[in-house]
Amino acid sequence: MPNNNLEGKNVVIIGGTAGIGLAAAKMASELGANVWAAGRSEGHIATAKEVSGGSFEVRQADTHDAEALDAIFKEVGQIHHLVSAAVGGERTLLPFLQQTQEQFQAAYDKLWGYCKVVRVGAPYLEDDGAITFVSGSPARKLAVGQSPLSCVGASVENLVRCLALELAPIRVNVVSPGTIDTAMFDHFGEEKQERLNAMTASHLIKRAGTSEEVASGILFVMQNEFATGTTVDVDGGRLLS
Ligand SMILES: NC(=O)c1ccc[n+]([C@@H]2O[C@H](COP(=O)([O-])OP(=O)(O)OC[C@H]3O[C@@H](n4cnc5c(N)ncnc54)[C@H](OP(=O)(O)O)[C@@H]3O)[C@@H](O)[C@H]2O)c1
Repeated sequence: MPNNNLEGKNVVIIGGTAGIGLAAAKMASELGANVWAAGRSEGHIATAKEVSGGSFEVRQADTHDAEALDAIFKEVGQIHHLVSAAVGGERTLLPFLQQTQEQFQAAYDKLWGYCKVVRVGAPYLEDDGAITFVSGSPARKLAVGQSPLSCVGASVENLVRCLALELAPIRVNVVSPGTIDTAMFDHFGEEKQERLNAMTASHLIKRAGTSEEVASGILFVMQNEFATGTTVDVDGGRLLS
């Protein structure tokens, strides 16, 4: 078992009020880190506060709002780990030619948000700090109707490699989830379980993953001081299916 090196470290997770980000916030806090988790909606903020039970801080911020991000970073002061797990953009799941240019571009809001988190957050990062992003298996597993997911995910992964090079010794990594049972699929309503089962039927591990399974990938790259510029896939073998 490696030593826990998160004890007393300052961890900020944008997109940390639900799903994967919230699970990572809880895990980091349980390992003794001082955690700030942020998201936009009051609903997710209330849930995150309940999950936190006061063990970590919950704030309101949008990845696109430099002022709100800066207010959190200022409050934290010195950041050891800056994580963005925010969804951050609107995806239109249609074949490319059936989408408008605007719909396709809207997916890129995820990338622009992540860029803003880094631009605003970098001055607060410790030299031995780390940035961790979340992409998604469509970046490298192509499917009809998923071009926005694929292109944005691939851009996030490439940005991580560019930043790892430019910001070293600050480490920069990305975790790529497969199909994970989170609020992202709540729009399926009562059919959610059935739809997730169908989506994962061809995967090597035939179920949706959990937020905790992906969060443990995030915690791995946060804690491993030799990991940088890397993509960790936590996808139930989706890339091979
Ligand atoms: N679930 C999957 O199957 C899956 C698959 C591949 C990739 N991913 C990626 O994994 C990451 C986490 O997704 P998830 O499944 O955990 O989603 P989730 O359960 O919907 O949680 C997303 C979190 O991000 C916050 N958020 C969204 N847009 C934001 C913005 N513009 N600024 C700040 N916070 C924002 C949400 O809160 P508010 O909405 O209140 O802001 C929430 O805290 C995302 O990057 C997603 O693209 C997920």
